[in-house]
Amino acid sequence: MALSPGWRAFAPFPVNCRGALQKAVRSSGLPLFPWGHCPWRGTGSFLDPEMKAFLEENTEVTSSGSLTPEIQLRLLTPRCKFWWERADLWPHSDPYWAIYWPGGQALSRYLLDNPGVVRGKSVLDVGSGCGATAIAAKMSGALRILANDIDPIAGMAITLNCELNRLNPFPILTKNILDLKQGKWDLVVLGDMFYDEDLADSLHQWLKNCFRAQRTRVLIGDPRRPQFSGHGIQHQLHKVVEYPLPEPTRRENNGLTTSTVWEFQP
Ligand SMILES: C[S@@+](CC[C@H](N)C(=O)[O-])C[C@H]1O[C@@H](n2cnc3c(N)ncnc32)[C@H](O)[C@@H]1O
Repeated sequence: MALSPGWRAFAPFPVNCRGALQKAVRSSGLPLFPWGHCPWRGTGSFLDPEMKAFLEENTEVTSSGSLTPEIQLRLLTPRCKFWWERADLWPHSDPYWAIYWPGGQALSRYLLDNPGVVRGKSVLDVGSGCGATAIAAKMSGALRILANDIDPIAGMAITLNCELNRLNPFPILTKNILDLKQGKWDLVVLGDMFYDEDLADSLHQWLKNCFRAQRTRVLIGDPRRPQFSGHGIQHQLHKVVEYPLPEPTRRENNGLTTSTVWEFQP
């Protein structure tokens, strides 16, 4: 399947590093759900009805083509108008949340296959996107979860995706967590977050602080993107597991063939 011109423009990597976009996105984080600390209220009712309708109209519910068929997600697929449409007609910021990235897929697979890693633990998913890794953590018995993404629309997509998987919604934070005082977490997970050099530097520093201050366990999912493979963080990683990517994910990611879970051990 050839990728549409619109899709190519959305896909920020590995085609092109969209540093300027990333900076713009990074500075725009606002808390989406001030009720985030109160996770047991119903989903849906907190979604702006117009945005909810937009998301439902412009995504498809799918569980196929990824490493985790047990998780259903609303994603942009070839059956969606904007898969084929010119990217500049998309009325919002680039929909990273509408893609289930290879790094997140590997992390989620690992958590589902190894529930002991999260069971009874507090888990922070940084750059949660569609929320799949946070959902995998919840399915595997995590006690406390925070999904963090600076894109408020990602927050809404995560809420819808919790609902799809019959999960009570967990808190979602759309502030830039890198600017906040460190919280205390048993585990921090990051799927496909090392796609921009500046962001990679900031994350590396922040993760070092997390580890030093709290001995927090850190797991990173990445399909060996250049900004990750060429980064200084490589000297502080231990390979946990590598998964072959399913064919549809390979096609959508310009020939990436595997995705790996790494443990950060500075
Ligand atoms: C490539 S996507 C990965 C999404 C998801 N983890 C996955 O693997 O499918 C990167 C996500 O990180 C978010 N992001 C970028 N900078 C961030 C930051 N400083 N803090 C939190 N999220 C960020 C973007 O909005 C985007 O949803």
